[in-house]
Amino acid sequence: MPQSLPVELDVAKIRADFPILEREVRPGIRLVYLDSTATSQKPAVVIKVMDEFYRKMNANIHRGVHTLAEEATAAYEEARQRIANFIGAKHAREIIFTRNATEAINLVAYSWGRKFLQPGDVIILTEMEHHSNLVPWQILAEERNLRLEFIPVTADGLLDMGTFNELLGLQPKLVAFTAMSNVLGTINPAKEIIQLAHQAGALTLVDGAQSVPHLPVNVQELDVDFLAFSGHKMCGPTGIGVLYGRETLLHTMPPFLGGGDMIRKVYLRSFAPNELPHKFEAGTPAIAEAIGLGAAVGYLENIGMDKIKAHEHELITYALECLSEIPGLTVLGPPADKKGGVASFSISGIHPHDVAQILDRYGIAVRAGHHCAMPLHDKFNLPATTRASFYLYNTKEEIDQLQMALGQVIKLLG
Ligand code: ALA
Repeated sequence: MPQSLPVELDVAKIRADFPILEREVRPGIRLVYLDSTATSQKPAVVIKVMDEFYRKMNANIHRGVHTLAEEATAAYEEARQRIANFIGAKHAREIIFTRNATEAINLVAYSWGRKFLQPGDVIILTEMEHHSNLVPWQILAEERNLRLEFIPVTADGLLDMGTFNELLGLQPKLVAFTAMSNVLGTINPAKEIIQLAHQAGALTLVDGAQSVPHLPVNVQELDVDFLAFSGHKMCGPTGIGVLYGRETLLHTMPPFLGGGDMIRKVYLRSFAPNELPHKFEAGTPAIAEAIGLGAAVGYLENIGMDKIKAHEHELITYALECLSEIPGLTVLGPPADKKGGVASFSISGIHPHDVAQILDRYGIAVRAGHHCAMPLHDKFNLPATTRASFYLYNTKEEIDQLQMALGQVIKLLG
């Protein structure tokens, strides 16, 4: 969508959908929630559907023939289908429910990685990865004697595509990267990276923890092999995430966890695995959470991912303008036209945790720390940053409040 089109979100109406936004953090101090990159808030419809599940339908799935069990199974599988539609998957069986994006990436590393990678094989990652897309590969590399290579991040927070092209000469088996950085906000050229990786004979895994909640994502358009994301960052509950995998690949992969539901037949000394997607869902899953995520996806679809993206673009453009007026403050990452609604910054001479603590006095919730991206902070020679992040329910007035409160931080500690 061209960024010049008018923003059509009715933010006042959206805010009314999120009960927590009514909250006062302390008497007279209304919550200003600028930490959606850590976890988003939940609309009433998600809370209601989960509440109703436990009140009216609670039963285990895929196991019983009684009415409740059948209703719960249908609701769980309907959520899977909604999620498949939301990301443009060909089949619901390509949607594996996991606990979160982290578990989804670990599933691929454990199952695909241990079956198909040999000593000396190359995996390409990037310097801007969250620990969840670094550590599983480090564990595997150690175990299998693999070689990890990294697409460097430029000073302005973009991927160095020239070096990526050179690295592809190593004939990597996998290119695994985030579509949107949780620190820099950078929106990476996912389609281009995937095309280049495929031309070099590599499979691709996209960490969509930040992109799926904020941008339109279609796995068939991207032609990606694996996509991982978390429910709790996209208006859904915690404890539920998704691994999308291309069906042909998922068929070749052994189970990740063993137990109930992932089997077709069990003998004392062996088993035959179940069909997709159940082969990868051992044990009783997070049923209410999956149904909650289905409702969250419906909520986002009703609003429109294009509109959400455009709204966040307005917010980050405005936020970068406001933050540029604050003396001593530096925002990491590229300009607004190359990033989503994430502003991680440092203020010279003031520790990010102190900044976050003083902002909390004004009811402003931000995150301070390394945001689970230590190597990226090392690259910028920073132990930590303060991060303000925006979602569909945020407003320019809240950014004004952030700017005002940062002025107070500097008065106090600068
Ligand atoms: N990945 C989450 C964040 O960036 C937790 O805060």
